[in-house]
Amino acid sequence: MLTKFRAKMIAKLYAPHMRAGLRVLDVGCGNAVVSKYLIDKFGITLEGTDILEYLEEQICFKKMDKPNVLPYADGSFDTVMFNDVLHHTENIEALLREALRVASKILIFEMGPSGWARFVDRFANVFIHKDMPVPLNFLNKQEWVELLAELNCKFQIEEMRRPFFGYPLKHCFICVERKV
Ligand SMILES: C[S@@+](CC[C@H](N)C(=O)[O-])C[C@H]1O[C@@H](n2cnc3c(N)ncnc32)[C@H](O)[C@@H]1O
Repeated sequence: MLTKFRAKMIAKLYAPHMRAGLRVLDVGCGNAVVSKYLIDKFGITLEGTDILEYLEEQICFKKMDKPNVLPYADGSFDTVMFNDVLHHTENIEALLREALRVASKILIFEMGPSGWARFVDRFANVFIHKDMPVPLNFLNKQEWVELLAELNCKFQIEEMRRPFFGYPLKHCFICVERKV
């Protein structure tokens, strides 16, 4: 139920950037429930990739051999998405550079730093995915601005409102585009 709720939240955010046939790479797609929801909703052509493989939905998928290397040729996609993935990675900048190699646009749905965010990740690591890296690499808005400035791209960062009163997590939406 929570996964569907997240999928709907992400779809609403990404809607202005989606169109039928758009070639999308979902990095860190996890169980692919969100990926499948986006495929069905927007008619996009989506492929998933992840360092782990635990798909619950049937989508095109390639497992990553290295954490900072996307196993695709330059320009293979229009858009890369990272949904609650980057705080699980040690080197966010390297992964974003890889994303900009394979696509011209990146969409990011990412948890901000908080005690709840750390708790959720630790909990998921112990009880759901023991193999998932949990470096707790959460960035605040200023840290995102500094990191994205290094990429020499256009970017927008939107701190999202909580979807309902008492919702414990604070997300942000980031759109990064190559300069033409
Ligand atoms: C919290 S889950 C999110 C899964 C999915 N994106 C979603 O929204 O349901 C984080 C995912 O990031 C993956 N991950 C962690 N480090 C990664 C890396 N360096 N490259 C790609 N995926 C990574 C994990 O294996 C895990 O599937």
